[in-house]
Amino acid sequence: EPNVRENWGSRLGFILAAVGSALGLGNIWRFPGVAYENGGGAFLIPYLVALCTAGIPLLILEFTIGRRFRGSAPVAFRRLNKNTEFIGWWQVAISLVIGVYYAVIIAWAAWYAYFSLEQQWGQDPATFLMVDFLEAGGLYDFGTWLPGLAVALALVWVATLAVIGAGVKKGIEATSKIFIPLLVVLFGALLVQSLTLDGAVDGLNAFFTPDWEAIRGPQVWLAAYAQIFFTLSVGFGIMITYGSYLKRKSDITTSAWTVGMSNSFGEILAGIAVFSVLGFLALETGVPIDEQSYQGVGLAFIAFPAIINTLPYLAGLFGVLFFVSLVVAGWASLISVVEVPVAAFEDRFGWSRKKTVAIIGGGMAVVSLVLFPTVNGLMVLDVTDHFINNYGIAVAAPVAIIAVVWILWRWQELRDDANATSSFKIGPIWFTCLGVITPLALAVILFFNVRDLLAAGPDSPLADYHEYQAFGWAVAGGSLAFALIMALVLRRREVPPAVPE
Ligand code: PHE
Ligand code: NA
Repeated sequence: EPNVRENWGSRLGFILAAVGSALGLGNIWRFPGVAYENGGGAFLIPYLVALCTAGIPLLILEFTIGRRFRGSAPVAFRRLNKNTEFIGWWQVAISLVIGVYYAVIIAWAAWYAYFSLEQQWGQDPATFLMVDFLEAGGLYDFGTWLPGLAVALALVWVATLAVIGAGVKKGIEATSKIFIPLLVVLFGALLVQSLTLDGAVDGLNAFFTPDWEAIRGPQVWLAAYAQIFFTLSVGFGIMITYGSYLKRKSDITTSAWTVGMSNSFGEILAGIAVFSVLGFLALETGVPIDEQSYQGVGLAFIAFPAIINTLPYLAGLFGVLFFVSLVVAGWASLISVVEVPVAAFEDRFGWSRKKTVAIIGGGMAVVSLVLFPTVNGLMVLDVTDHFINNYGIAVAAPVAIIAVVWILWRWQELRDDANATSSFKIGPIWFTCLGVITPLALAVILFFNVRDLLAAGPDSPLADYHEYQAFGWAVAGGSLAFALIMALVLRRREVPPAVPE
């Protein structure tokens, strides 16, 4: 009976799974650099404002839609209204794209955990990464395939599909209950070791010293909103899917606050760890922090190896702690993102979970294995990530909000549904944040992103994305096209009403 829906076994299990989705590369390699560039300690103000006015209200909305309509994103949106099913498929398409490349970063980190035992990257980690490990070429350099990387990637997919195939309670929830506490222990040990390094205080000063001037301009506020959407995994169906396995009586608003606060706590601790070690590296090498790679691939795979090389003691352990933390944090996020399409095909077509995992999960694994362990893998990943985040999620999220809140005017129904079982009640403030502030913030971010991309010259950091626009727009536009086709094909195929628990 495809209509009977699995539930989370416990409230803690659900929270750990949602926190597992939220904690990811966004916390470890995105937040510290974004905060540092945008006012340091002063960034906490726009950041917390964005968390409260956009992040938490959107989390509440997604949990409520999932729980009320008891379905994956397409089914939930179809039950909401016959014409909004495409929004759910759009979110599925975005998740398909993200899942396919997110797995690759986990495979890199797994190899680096191994490399750190003997610091196999040698004295020049940048060359090691680009030449020896990734053999990096341009976007259109097809051909050469990297077998070592492919093996690690295949293992990531096998582990992920095994967890999802085992189901919500025995797979996702059970895994989260082991791996999220493990992540806390690993990262806690890394934090302690980071804080004991010489130069840690200088790094923390660089990170936290507030630049109050900076937060007067719009740029910093936009950076804060952009960080919040990414870091909370909102806007592409994950939290709707996870919400659909909630029991009717669960407290939605308190759960949303718990998930939001845990994730932000994780970001600030990551910022402390990252800037402590960057302070150490600056002291050792004499290169100031703002001239080092303090973000993204460069931070994790160039700066950290350089730091590990210079550590006075327990260098191998430090490397393992860092890269295994990346693997664990990324893996829990990957599980959540793959669950979106799996749940969608499972409950929209009535397939069994095993069959869906084999077809949809297996299909994602094959695409990932064909496209990414290649010399152009890094470029494909980078361009795809940029376009799907900036022009996929950033468009799909406001479309969903405007449809639900304004066009269909369903916010009161959803508000009452959340309030009925929540101790912390929502009302007009929630409406204002969700219906007005969040879509406005997203629209302004989108406007600036498009403007900057179109104006990018050869010296701009956006130059590569400018050059590869044909590919990037095809990815972003292709997700919407997929969604419209799916919705059209399924238009006459009714979904049964949600079965109450
Ligand atoms: N919330 C994740 C993070 O902070 C982002 C993410 C989640 C990306 C799930 C993809 C899939 O890193
Ligand atoms: Na996050």
